[in-house]
Amino acid sequence: MGSLRLYNHTNAEMEEEHVKRVITYGTFDMLHYGHINILRRAKEMGDYLVVVLSTDEFNWNSKQKKCYFTYEQRKQVLEAIRYVDLVIPENNWDQKISDVQDYKIDTFVMGSDWEGKFDYLKEYCEVVYLPRTANISSTKLRQENSGIRLGIIGYEPMVEKFIQESRYVGNVELSGIFQP
Ligand code: CTP
Repeated sequence: MGSLRLYNHTNAEMEEEHVKRVITYGTFDMLHYGHINILRRAKEMGDYLVVVLSTDEFNWNSKQKKCYFTYEQRKQVLEAIRYVDLVIPENNWDQKISDVQDYKIDTFVMGSDWEGKFDYLKEYCEVVYLPRTANISSTKLRQENSGIRLGIIGYEPMVEKFIQESRYVGNVELSGIFQP
């Protein structure tokens, strides 16, 4: 049988049915097969998958990350994936314990790029890091789709300033630096 869609089940109903709940976090911009792989494996670890999706504000304020798609667009795409049962916003780094408690989570899943970072959650649920899919990331896709390739010629510290600033500009890929 295909995966259960449990949008309409209450917490009490799910407990009664011994539903195993899994949670994972991420930005999921320009959804790619690496994302599908982790969502599929996360769902295989239980019956109900909650995806906590980083908001645009959180991405910008805490990671200086500018997404290609907006939060609402990324949410829409995730909700169309059959492994995903519920999408909720990630607004800060500190909400994980309360998410695990509020959604009665059994297993917390992240890619291996986060190995060890969330071990403090082991007090509340099982914590699993799954191997990352090689050679694909949203950053790579954003760079490949970027309109502007930036080459910098110059000396320190100006070059360093350009490198830092280019991170804040959408659609720019830093492709080369030459220091005479
Ligand atoms: N992920 C994965 N394999 C990849 C890319 C991502 O398993 N090749 C996993 C991450 O480990 C994380 C989840 O997918 O658990 C969401 O990651 P996210 O940061 O949104 O994806 P990235 O493609 O890594 O995005 P970015 O390049 O913007 O960091």
